[in-house]
Amino acid sequence: MHPSLSFDQAPPISVPYRFFLAAPWFGVMAGILLAWSGPAAFASRWTPEALALTHLIALGFMLQAMSGALFQFIPVAVGGNVWRPRLVANTVQPLLLLGTLLLVAGFLFVRTDLLSAAVPLFLLAVGGFVTVVAIALWQTPATGVTLWAMRLAIGGLAVTVLLGSLLAESLARGLSLPIVELTNIHLAWGLGGWALMLLAGVSYHVVPMFQLTRPYPPWFARGFGPLLLLLLLAWSGQYFLDDVRWPVAIGLPLVAVFSAYAGMTLWLQYTRRRKIHDPTSLYFRVAMLSLLVFAISGAAFFLIPVIGADPRSVVWLGVLAFAGVFVSAITGMMYKITPFLNWLHLQRLGAPMSAVPNMKKMLAAEAMTGQLRLHVLAVLLLLAAVWLPGLASLAGVAFACSSAWLAWNLISAVRRYQAFRDQIRVVALHR
Ligand code: HEM
Repeated sequence: MHPSLSFDQAPPISVPYRFFLAAPWFGVMAGILLAWSGPAAFASRWTPEALALTHLIALGFMLQAMSGALFQFIPVAVGGNVWRPRLVANTVQPLLLLGTLLLVAGFLFVRTDLLSAAVPLFLLAVGGFVTVVAIALWQTPATGVTLWAMRLAIGGLAVTVLLGSLLAESLARGLSLPIVELTNIHLAWGLGGWALMLLAGVSYHVVPMFQLTRPYPPWFARGFGPLLLLLLLAWSGQYFLDDVRWPVAIGLPLVAVFSAYAGMTLWLQYTRRRKIHDPTSLYFRVAMLSLLVFAISGAAFFLIPVIGADPRSVVWLGVLAFAGVFVSAITGMMYKITPFLNWLHLQRLGAPMSAVPNMKKMLAAEAMTGQLRLHVLAVLLLLAAVWLPGLASLAGVAFACSSAWLAWNLISAVRRYQAFRDQIRVVALHR
C-alpha cells in the first residue's frame, strides 16, 4: 500500500462506480448528437448543438466522473470524512442526471422553460454535494497542496453552477444581463476554477505515485492554485472595466499558467527513471499536449485578432479543452482507479491475499490501449472538423464509438469484480 493513502474510510465501491459507469454514456450521446447535426454544430459557439454538446461533456461526462473520483479520493488521499457517502451519492446523482438532460434538451430545442427547470435540480444537487465535500475538506487534519487545490476547486464548482443558473434564468425570463460577458466568466470558472484546479491538485498526488515521476517542485505546486485563482478573479473583474486592453493583459498570463502546468507535467514524465507506457501515462500525455496546444492557440487568438475573430476559433479551443484535455485526463484516471478499487475491495472481503487476483487481471491492457487509440483519432477528427465541417459526422461517430468502448471496458471491470467477489464468498462459505 502506498504510504500516503489510507483506506479505512473508503466509501462502498458502488459509490464511485455509479458515477464512473454513467459518465461515458454522455460521451456516446455527444458523439451521436454531433454525427446527427453534422456541419452545422461547429459553425459557432452559440449554435444550439454546440451549447448542448458543451454541457453533455461538462456536466454529463466530467462532473459525473469527477464527483465519483472525489467521493473516493477525499477519504483515501486527504483523510477527509465524507458524511454518509452512499446516501449523498444516491440523492445527488439522479438529480444531476435529470438536470443535465433537461439543460441539454433546453439548449438543443431552444426551450428556455427546460433550462429554467434544470436550475433547481442543479442548485440542490451541487449545493448538497459542495456542502458535504467542503465540510470533509475543512475538517480533515491533513495539510498540503492537494488539499488546498481541492478546496479551491470545490469553490470553483459552486461559482460555476451559480453563474450557470443565473444565465439560464436570465435567458428564460429575458432579464437584461450581459449574457456574453457572464458566459465568458462562467466558462472560465467551469474550465479553470473547477476542472483544471482539481486536475492539477490531483496530479500533484497521483502523477508521482502512479506514473513514477519525481514530485512537482514545491514552489510550483504551492504557486499554481493561488495564481490561477487570482487570474480568474481578474478575468471576471475586467468585464466591469470596459477597456479592450484588459482581456489580452489577463488572458495571456492565464494561458501562460496553463502551459506551465502542462509543460511541467510533460517534463516530469519525460525525466522519470522508469519509462512506463501504461494507458494512464499515455492519456495524461494526450491531455497535457492538448492543453499546450490550447494555450498556444489562445495566445495566438489574443495577439492576432483577425484569427480570433473567426467564430470557429472558440470552437477549436472548446474541442481542445473538453475532448483533448479533460475527457483524456479523466479517462486515464478512471483506468487507474478502477482496477485498484476492485483489488482493494476484494482484499477487504477478508480473502487471503493469494485469492485476490492481480490488478492487471481487472482490466485488460489491450482493451485500454485500443480505446485510447480510437479516442486520439476521434480528437484529431473533431479538431479537423472545426475547419473542415464535412468531417463533423465522422468525428461524431468516432467519439461515440470511443466513449462506448470506454463504457464497455469499465463494465467489464465491474463484472470481473463481481465474479471474483462471488468466488471469494463461496470459498468462505465452504471453509
Ligand atoms: C459545472 C460545469 C460547467 C461547465 C464546465 C460549463 C461550461 C460552459 C461553457 C464552456 C459555456 C460556453 C459555451 C459556448 O460558448 O459554446 C457555457 C455556457 C452556459 N452554461 Fe455552462 N457549464 C457548466 C455548468 C452549467 C450549469 C450547471 C448551468 C445551468 C444550471 C449552465 C448554464 C449555462 C448557460 C445558460 C450558458 C450560456 C448559454 C447562452 O449564453 O446561450 N452551465 N457553460
